[in-house]
Amino acid sequence: MPKILVVTSGKGGVGKTTSTAALGAALAQSNHKVAVVDFDVGLRNLDLVMGAERRVVYDLINVAQGDAKLHQALIRDKRLDNLYLLAASQTRDKDALTEDGVRRVIDELRERFDWIVCDSPAGIERGATLAMRFADVAVVVANPEVSSVRDSDRIIGLLDAKTEIAENGGRMEKHLLLTRYDAGRAARGEMLNVEDVLEILSIPLLGVIPESEEVLRASNVGTPVTLHSGVSAPSRAYADAARRLCGVEVPMEIPSDKKGLLVRLFGRRAA
Ligand SMILES: Nc1ncnc2c1ncn2[C@@H]1O[C@H](COP(=O)(O)OP(=O)(O)OP(=O)(O)O)[C@@H](O)[C@H]1O
Ligand SMILES: [Mg+2]
Repeated sequence: MPKILVVTSGKGGVGKTTSTAALGAALAQSNHKVAVVDFDVGLRNLDLVMGAERRVVYDLINVAQGDAKLHQALIRDKRLDNLYLLAASQTRDKDALTEDGVRRVIDELRERFDWIVCDSPAGIERGATLAMRFADVAVVVANPEVSSVRDSDRIIGLLDAKTEIAENGGRMEKHLLLTRYDAGRAARGEMLNVEDVLEILSIPLLGVIPESEEVLRASNVGTPVTLHSGVSAPSRAYADAARRLCGVEVPMEIPSDKKGLLVRLFGRRAA
């Protein structure tokens, strides 16, 4: 059965678009047919991270309003032929996206794909609630800081109240993806650590993505980090998270403060 996955957060700039591209590409690499859909009307970022910005002709709103057919708007990835992008509109007003329009697009995507990964805009307004409206799985992206975790908590409330599955008495499957995790700063108490976050948010952990320059490098060349460099730490962490989404049991790797440990060991020896 196809899965509608929303990548959401509340707080802006925490890594939703990065995660949508990385998880979408990782799922496609494991032979699922995947569409990543940009719900961030007005900003349009996912096409950049996917390296498809010059190929956008029609977008989500065009299809939702019946001005273009889905097959005209879907952009096939140049690296993986079972990965597609449906871009957001850059110019139109946000009210152009309606619940009925989104429902029609999602229903049509359901016919063609195994995974439909919806990149939510920040906030808890209309765009964010439309992105989650028809989902059955949610990846809640949070950074290890209090404001991000607090916003995630509010989003979890919305996932359990404002979605179709919740209104029909069903249960939204929810996963926490902790991104931009800097083990050194967590060890020094400058950021929350994994346990702190899990204590506040009572949803299961899907993965911990380390803070890494590799993410910026990949996005600068328009490549999901999971396709950019197979051996980087964020790429591995995203690939593991994607496998967990598919129900595979993968041991959880929490990034550790190796450098800090060496400094401490060295410091001790020197003392
Ligand atoms: N693991 C990471 N390590 C380093 N930088 C990261 C990481 N994840 C994301 N970033 C950077 O953080 C910034 C915000 O990421 P992204 O655009 O994915 O967030 P977002 O939640 O989609 O933002 P918005 O709410 O504006 O849509 C980008 O510059 C991205 O490259
Ligand atoms: Mg984004």
